[in-house]
Amino acid sequence: MPKSMDQIVSLCKRRGFLFQSSEIYGGLNGFWDYGPLGVELKRNVRNAWWNDMITHHDEFTVPAGAPREFQMTGIESSIIMHPQVWKRSGHYDLFADMMQSCRHCKKLFRADHVWSMLSASPWVRSFAECFGAGVSADRINFSSPEAINWSRDRKRGQKLAPALALVRNPEITLSGLAEDLQNNPELDLSLPQLLRYMATEQKNITGLQVPCPECGGDLTEPRRFNLMFETYTGAIQSDENRAFLRPETAQGMFVNFKNVVDSMSVRIPFGIAQIGKSFRNEITPRNFTFRSREFEQMEMEFFCHPSESRQWYQYWRDRRFAWYQKLGIPGGNLILRDHAPEELSHYSVGTADVEYAFPFLEAGEYGELEGIAHRGDFDLRSHMEGKLCKGPNGLELEKNADGSPKYKGSGKDLSYFDDQSRERFIPHVIEPAAGADRATLAFLCEAYNEDKQPDEKGELQERVYLKFHPKLAPVKVAVFPLIKKEGMPEKALEIYREIKAAGIAAVFAQQAAIGKRYRRQDEIGTPWCITVDGDTMTGDTVTLRDRDSLEQIRLPVSKVIDEIARRLRT
Ligand code: GAP
Repeated sequence: MPKSMDQIVSLCKRRGFLFQSSEIYGGLNGFWDYGPLGVELKRNVRNAWWNDMITHHDEFTVPAGAPREFQMTGIESSIIMHPQVWKRSGHYDLFADMMQSCRHCKKLFRADHVWSMLSASPWVRSFAECFGAGVSADRINFSSPEAINWSRDRKRGQKLAPALALVRNPEITLSGLAEDLQNNPELDLSLPQLLRYMATEQKNITGLQVPCPECGGDLTEPRRFNLMFETYTGAIQSDENRAFLRPETAQGMFVNFKNVVDSMSVRIPFGIAQIGKSFRNEITPRNFTFRSREFEQMEMEFFCHPSESRQWYQYWRDRRFAWYQKLGIPGGNLILRDHAPEELSHYSVGTADVEYAFPFLEAGEYGELEGIAHRGDFDLRSHMEGKLCKGPNGLELEKNADGSPKYKGSGKDLSYFDDQSRERFIPHVIEPAAGADRATLAFLCEAYNEDKQPDEKGELQERVYLKFHPKLAPVKVAVFPLIKKEGMPEKALEIYREIKAAGIAAVFAQQAAIGKRYRRQDEIGTPWCITVDGDTMTGDTVTLRDRDSLEQIRLPVSKVIDEIARRLRT
């Protein structure tokens, strides 16, 4: 695990995992490009998910922990779907964040992020320090002369918070606080409350204001902002032609439920899986790829009988947690967190998140990798009957003031008929929804390791290595000739070509000293290096070096591919 996110970001750029999108033009906030190694890593993450869900699924065996055997199918739906999809799903009305913008620097902030951003802001820290307090102090020992000194100081207030009311007009700003203190000596002097006073010049007109984490200027009231990217289909940019880039892949599975049942003769319980791009116009994209505006999801909708849905929810919750553990995040940094009842969506009877202790978080905090939700029959019913909302007797059709449905349904029958039990019902859905980019980032962070290893002269050198699970490593094998003569390059090239022909990702390198070549492979997480040396030329054997243990074994050239394939299987 790296000490800071900067180590990951710099390694990713240096070694071709991830680049800022459109970097030569200064980058585009919230968008990232996967480089030559990143694209392989992310493809391996996707493949591991798809293999687990679809390719290796055995529909005739009951997996451990599952109520019974089940079928799995995959689809790939379009990114732009009928706009009505988003009205029924709730994204059109509800998929919005409350936003505040700074009247001075014009920066936008998510209302629920403002206070955490203020606590981390350099000007707030400097302001709190001038009263000998930290940002989490309950009460500040406030003094007006100290505040005026701070506001006039070229290195503190003037430089860090130029748009703060206290800095622009200290006397007027402080007079508001003094007046209130006179009327109420017990006034709340916690830091958040003080900051509101410091951001307010005319309390009688505006009320207390919230300062901008960047420049101290006052923020607007929170306003709703929809996160869906809009576009138009066809030549005319009219309301009728307005469409959206999908904010999740899940709806593709719901609207194709009937198509899959009719075309594939699948029986409930079964799942439909999909991997694809989603788009959200996030207000504050941040923490590298963790919160991006364009990202990839790996989602699966599992359709089951309502009476079995709680068992299936438990099964998928545990199975998805185990997937990350198997692929290299075994302990401490990964948790499975059940949502408290007040966190659940109105239709959900249970949701759990798989979360990871990313290095950009405080100790003890975790960021979401995947949510596993019991969604009941909300989605199929919404597409069938129209947009639903919570009523006194459960889900009911959302209505306009005149009693008409707010958004009518498709009118298509999305119920399922079980020809054995002769029962017709609307299936319940369990949804494991994972992010391919977040999973890739977590695997990268977890793989990051540093140690000290002797070089050719026996001197200890710092080594950075990525301890990827071999299935995820972008390159599985590097093949080296020990020296660039005596037929070694030709022999190494021959072995390299055979490994590639066997479908195993490999690289060939002959420049630089052998130790340096090993270290370069360690840094990109290549699990094994094969070296052709003098003994290869006489005895047809090579050395196989392990990235983690550094152990080197000799084996016949004829056994190399079998050995690598065996190790990749385990
Ligand atoms: N269909 C349910 C759904 O989309 P979500 O929790 O909004 O649920 C699922 O998204 C996963 O998609 C998240 O757990 C996360 O891994 C990924 N994800 C969501 N928003 C993201 C963003 N802005 N950037 C990167 N990944 C994101």
